[in-house]
Order: sequence, then C-alpha cells, then structure tokens
Amino acid sequence: MKTEVLPFSEDSAKKAAEILAHGGIVGIPTETVYGLAADARDESAVRSIFAAKGRPQDNPLIVHISRLEQLPPLVREIPPLALKIAERFWAGPLTMIFPKSGLIPQATSGGLDTVAVRMPSSPAARAIIDACGFPLAAPSANLSGSPSPTTAQHVLNDMDGRIPLIIDGGECSCGVESTVLCFPTEDSVRILRPGGVTAEMLSELCRVEIDPAVTSEPEKGAKVLSPGMKYKHYSPKADVLIVDAHGEEFREWCEAHSGEGVIALSQESGGQGMFRSFGKDPQEQAHRLFALLREADEQGAVRVYVEMPSKEGIGLAVYNRLLRAAAFRIVGTDDEQ
Ligand code: TXA
Ligand code: MG
Repeated sequence: MKTEVLPFSEDSAKKAAEILAHGGIVGIPTETVYGLAADARDESAVRSIFAAKGRPQDNPLIVHISRLEQLPPLVREIPPLALKIAERFWAGPLTMIFPKSGLIPQATSGGLDTVAVRMPSSPAARAIIDACGFPLAAPSANLSGSPSPTTAQHVLNDMDGRIPLIIDGGECSCGVESTVLCFPTEDSVRILRPGGVTAEMLSELCRVEIDPAVTSEPEKGAKVLSPGMKYKHYSPKADVLIVDAHGEEFREWCEAHSGEGVIALSQESGGQGMFRSFGKDPQEQAHRLFALLREADEQGAVRVYVEMPSKEGIGLAVYNRLLRAAAFRIVGTDDEQ
C-alpha cells in the first residue's frame, strides 16, 4: 500500500473522512500527538488499527469527538463532575473514562466495560471528525512500544506502507498524550496517565488522586486501571537512563560515563558534544521529548542519559513517559555504574 501525506486543508479532511467512512485508517494530527484513526463504532476498522500498530488487543483506544452532543450515545452515564470538567477543559488534552454504551465494540474498549473519550482542540482533528460525523477511535500513531509521533514525518517513519493516508497538521503543540482520568467517587478524579491538563489544574475543580502506576512500576501480573500503563512504552532502541542530578553535576556525571553512541539530554540550552538541549521549562520538555528520543535512534545512539525533570505541572507527564522509556531505571550520581 502506498502511503500518501497531504497537508491539512478542507479538501484533505474530506478525503480522510471518505477513507474513514469506508472502514479505512488514517494518520491524523491532534494537539497532543498524532493519532491513528478509524470509525470507533466499526469493529473491523478498529481491528486494523491494532494490526497496523502491532498493539496488544487488551489495550483500549481513546474515542475522539468534536462536539459534546456526541458524548451521550457513547456512554451509559455521565457523572455531573465529568460535565463540569468538560466545560472547563474540553476541547483539550484530557480523556475521561465512562461506562460504555452498546455503540462501542469490544475491540475499541479492549474488552473493558468502559470507554475513554476525549475532545481534541486541534482544528485539524476537529475538522476531520466533523467531516466524518462519527467518533474516531485513535491511539497514538506509532508502532506499539516506540516513542509517540509528534510530526507527520514520525508517523510516516513508522506507518509507511501500512496506511493509505496521513494528514500533516505540523508539529503537535503539546507533545505528550492527553491526561487520562476516571471517577472513583462523585467528587474526585483519579489520574491514570498524566498529560497536558495537569493535577494542579484539575484540583481547582475537585479532589485529585494520582494513580500509583503513574510514578512506580506495576508489579508483575498486577491489575492496572489503565492497561496501557503496564506495557514497556515510549522506548527508543537506545537504552534510556534518568540521572537524578542537575546542572553542572549532571553534566560532569555524563562526561565521566560517556562513550561511543552516548547522548545526554540536558536542561541547559545549546547542545554541544554528547549534549542535546531538552529545555528547562516543563512545557518545552513535553514538546521536545518524543522527537529527541526518535532523533537518538536516527543517530544510532546506544545510550541516552536524561537530566531528572521536574514533576510539577506537565512535568509529571514528562517524568511518567521517561520512566517508561527508561524501564524505571534512575541512577544517582553516587551509584555504582
Ligand atoms: O493524546 C492522546 O490521548 C492520543 C491522541 C492521538 O489523542 N491518544 C493516545 O492513545 O495516547 P493511546 O491509545 O496511545 O493511549 C490510550 C491510553 C492507554 O494507556 C489506555 O490503556 C488508556 O488510554 N485507556 C483507554 N481506554 C481506557 C479505559 N476504558 N480504561 C482505562 N484506560 C483506558
Ligand atoms: Mg500510545
């Protein structure tokens, strides 16, 4: 199959909608990361997403809508708190989990009785959903396990020959996937995956719990609320290691442990030698993270050291993705290597 890449326009959105209406899959931009979209109601279309990504079947997909009226038919119940949160944070990088209706096939929900729904803010994503007139199931458009794509070129690198069309909407502004949350009680939310809508932002509306799986390794065989959290994820081919140090101390440690094919993501600006600039601001780090991990692979890196990010705001999302990319390995500068 030849994969076409078209810049986003009204015409290309229409072309995407035609393919999607016939059970095909299309790479689409969103404000978080690129998605691999199919008609969320169509079991066989959704199965072809799993095949294209090589994704485990029990890992459910997020359903994307462009208007609030599209939500009620997909779910059995909408907690009042969900509506309050939607009013404040939709459209945007936030996914909420609801009991699913009969419209959602098992393939979309990974066999669960719930469905994850989000309304993206990206004008391109919204125009494509509008042109379809039906909700789109879309996981990140990477091969399962590799870093999420934040440009159309990243999608092409992973999906060339596997899908008919990618819509190029430029670089994703947010850069990490949406916040995923569920409702353990009437007046609280639990963050299962941190993202662009942060715990701090949500705590202005309600009590916020952070699922332990966000910052620690789930025990083998343990039941996790968000199945995606149990898989090794976001990993480049290179070995990633988080270094619990900052500034000069981080740089000195990296230089003392450098070698052929070793790269270091530093928060200082300007990358020289083994160092690449990761940025100081968590927002900037989120924006750059996946592209830097992909570049490391392109440059044939064998090891990537990363300066410990802040865990505040969207920094928690950066830390969560890095922990998985690093298979939970953090070293202190006093540790034996
Ligand atoms: O920003 C995003 O959310 C991107 C763009 C494309 O919208 N999509 C995305 O999808 O990141 P994906 O499939 O890569 O990640 C979906 C996450 C997984 O961790 C999955 O386990 C969780 O959401 N999830 C989906 N449905 C769920 C459900 N019913 N219950 C619990 N977790 C769910
Ligand atoms: Mg993903």
